[in-house]
Amino acid sequence: MHTPPIQIAPSLLSCDFGQIAAEVKRTEDAGADWLHVDVMDGHFVPNLTIGPPLVKAIHTAASIPLDVHLMITNPAEFAGPYAKAGAEVLTYHWEVAPSEQASLEVIAAFREQGVPQVGVAVNPDTPIEGIEPLLGSVDLVLVMSVFPGFGGQSFIADVLDKTRWLRSAGFEGHVEMDGGLDPATLPLCAEAGANALVAGSAIFGPPDMAATISELRAAAEAALPAGSEA
Ligand code: DX5
Ligand code: ZN
Repeated sequence: MHTPPIQIAPSLLSCDFGQIAAEVKRTEDAGADWLHVDVMDGHFVPNLTIGPPLVKAIHTAASIPLDVHLMITNPAEFAGPYAKAGAEVLTYHWEVAPSEQASLEVIAAFREQGVPQVGVAVNPDTPIEGIEPLLGSVDLVLVMSVFPGFGGQSFIADVLDKTRWLRSAGFEGHVEMDGGLDPATLPLCAEAGANALVAGSAIFGPPDMAATISELRAAAEAALPAGSEA
């Protein structure tokens, strides 16, 4: 089956926020495909991060797509501001709209407010089967491989089954994995069928970001399941 190409998406949560424009440029120059932006509201997760004005500043500095991950309780209310600020992909969490009807309403609100690509995320302890009715309505499914809130946590390997399930259910959109991805765990995600691969500490930690991104990309492409297109 056709799966979309690998997208390496550095999480700006691990960047130097005091030099955000330079960090965006450095990340692009190092070969990133998307910039992953983690939005936290202090309610859905116990951390508080990035509002629309900062997303706009990132968008102004960036030339690659912004992949905005909303870890907030009221995503429909903020879809317009984040879309206007320049989000290309905007992802909400299933846990804040945990039924087919509630989620379809969020997705419709995102589309009405001009979100180009809509994603739905599931936490590590959320069964994936609940989102089956949404698979025809979203562009991306984000399988969280840590509990959201902070960078630098350890990868939860059990969630790889959800990625496999999505591909076996025939989902041909982006399957993204986020949390604890590093040179050892990122190939496991690609092998299971994920194509959008988020990494924060593994990309911003080592000194040579270009070498790090090329190594991660090569490891992902080498691990792709037979029959998928790189
Ligand atoms: C966690 C965030 C992740 C995080 C990833 O809530 O959604 O995007 O920044 O960071 P690492 O790669 O360090 O686990
Ligand atoms: Zn994220």
